[in-house]
Amino acid sequence: MTEPPLSDAERRAGAVLTVDLGAIAANWAALRQAGRAGGRPVDCAAVLKADAYGCGAVPVGRRLAEAGCRHFFVAHLDEGIELRAALPDVAIYVLNGVLAGSEDEFVAYRLSPVLNHLGQLNSWRATAQRHDRPLDAVVHLDTGMNRLGFGTDEASVLVNERGRLRGLRLALILSHLVTAEDPADPMNGEQLGRFRSFVRAMPGAPASLANSSGIFLGPDYHFDLLRPGAALYGINPVPGRDNPMLPSVRLMSRVLQVRRIDALQTVGYGGAWRSARPSRIATIALGYADGYFRALINRSVVHIAGQPAPVIGRISMDLVTVDVTDLPEAAVQAGTEVEVLGPHLLPDDLAERARTNGYEIMTALGGRYARRYVEGAAEAQS
Ligand SMILES: Cc1ncc(COP(=O)(O)O)c(C=O)c1O
Repeated sequence: MTEPPLSDAERRAGAVLTVDLGAIAANWAALRQAGRAGGRPVDCAAVLKADAYGCGAVPVGRRLAEAGCRHFFVAHLDEGIELRAALPDVAIYVLNGVLAGSEDEFVAYRLSPVLNHLGQLNSWRATAQRHDRPLDAVVHLDTGMNRLGFGTDEASVLVNERGRLRGLRLALILSHLVTAEDPADPMNGEQLGRFRSFVRAMPGAPASLANSSGIFLGPDYHFDLLRPGAALYGINPVPGRDNPMLPSVRLMSRVLQVRRIDALQTVGYGGAWRSARPSRIATIALGYADGYFRALINRSVVHIAGQPAPVIGRISMDLVTVDVTDLPEAAVQAGTEVEVLGPHLLPDDLAERARTNGYEIMTALGGRYARRYVEGAAEAQS
């Protein structure tokens, strides 16, 4: 398939990140379908925090809203404000909750803070009184993460003192799984049990437990609203098994310079790689400032015209060096395109080489990349 011509921004940038909105929408639809397979009318939200895991919250949000998504989660108030400007008619939840002094901005932008403790609930109730209208309350129960959310004691206060919700409409109860990617871990069942008891004690409110991997734990975990992030963007929600999701990103950089070196020469800072033979080294236009981690020193590979070329030496701030000695000379010149992420090396594969996970690779995708949005997996992968 032919690519559209480069835009000015793409011509100027060291690398172009292509985001396949069609793949993300298809992933969302597949996850929603998985939720409905249990025979209940389970809805599917989208987690767009950290700029939609590096993919761009506004374009991704718009595309998913077009596909029918009505519930969006972000982490920060500013992320919610940005998304609200693009999506006037959807529910937007702010996972980090409401910081003291920002309550009126939540009201002005019609954002729902996820209430993580009684203090936040109290200030939100006072806000509803001040504005003289009911506001949506979203209650986060901590069922085992020990991070954010109502702990056991605070949850029983809420169960026993319903007046705490006066002036609020309990719009959603949620909790977050600790280790959903490992179906054999007994923690999943323990959290499910605690969540169920709380949901039963607060009848009438919709509930949400499953993140991406949680969806694949089965219908018991689905409740009313699925809450995937990673799987939307193609990260494998079932590690160790075939990835059921479509990949959504491709990252192409370019060669800045090719040089010949003799045997026993070092390349890059610290002389961390030494040539065993006369070699050709290509220097490409991205580095750790763009999210290409220093941990990838001598551990990764890029692809040029489908052929692998090992990344050698230390990763610099703006540059990566690769050994192209085994590639035909004509195939690697200044300006040659280099696949950093794409069909030959997915974010999960790069993550393994960097000893991290696909989430960190995606959310670190650099602000200096030119971004291109395409529709359809075939186009993005061509
Ligand atoms: C509370 C909450 N719900 C849902 C998600 C989405 O999780 P995942 O990206 O694993 O699908 C996250 C992400 O960390 C989260 O913090």
